[in-house]
Amino acid sequence: MKKISPSLLSIKKENRLEVANQLFNMNIDWIHYDYMDEKFVPNSAIEISEIENIKNNSKRHIMDIHIMAFEPEKVVDQVIGLVDYATVHYEAFSSENDLQEFINKYKGKIKLGLSIKPNTSFDKITKFLNNIDLLLIMSVEPGKGGQSFIETSLDKIKSARNYIDKNKINILIQVDGGINDKTASGAFKAGADVLVSGSYLTIEPSKSKLDLLLK
Ligand code: DX5
Ligand code: ZN
Repeated sequence: MKKISPSLLSIKKENRLEVANQLFNMNIDWIHYDYMDEKFVPNSAIEISEIENIKNNSKRHIMDIHIMAFEPEKVVDQVIGLVDYATVHYEAFSSENDLQEFINKYKGKIKLGLSIKPNTSFDKITKFLNNIDLLLIMSVEPGKGGQSFIETSLDKIKSARNYIDKNKINILIQVDGGINDKTASGAFKAGADVLVSGSYLTIEPSKSKLDLLLK
């Protein structure tokens, strides 16, 4: 699969719905919604009410929420039935046991994603892959848009692709951070299924930029 899931993080709140609709007109069918709690990362981002508003006033699309927050259950409880995928951070849990309990609790209620920051190795999360639907590899430190793609992420994407294919695990690999016309093809080649694109694609959306991401 080769898909682009734009993030509206770099767009002013009052313009997000309009930009989402522009993206849908370019045949985008997936939006990545960034949620931040000001603790796991220092900033805040998109509120649940905004996600509801965009859903209610636009085309049906695949929706994932990237939960950059401690106590992710509090967020997941609010988005069951609203979005398709809820992605939580490995680093947000105080133990792997807590993460396993989280997965057991929500599995079947919503599609689950698990994200790792650039300094977390892929090996840490292999044991969870059979019970989740999406692996989100961060190619920048989570927290803000407009950062540069960390090149070593490519090795992590390749390791994940090899492991998933070898073990025939049914899961999508999404990559987030610094995706643009120069970095997208490498990330797809390394094995990503879905690329998040924030500042590059959404600040001035165009079909030609989208085509460059997918080339
Ligand atoms: C960063 C967010 C990203 C962000 C990506 O913490 O998770 O989704 O919007 O923005 P760009 O594409 O500008 O790096
Ligand atoms: Zn994100």
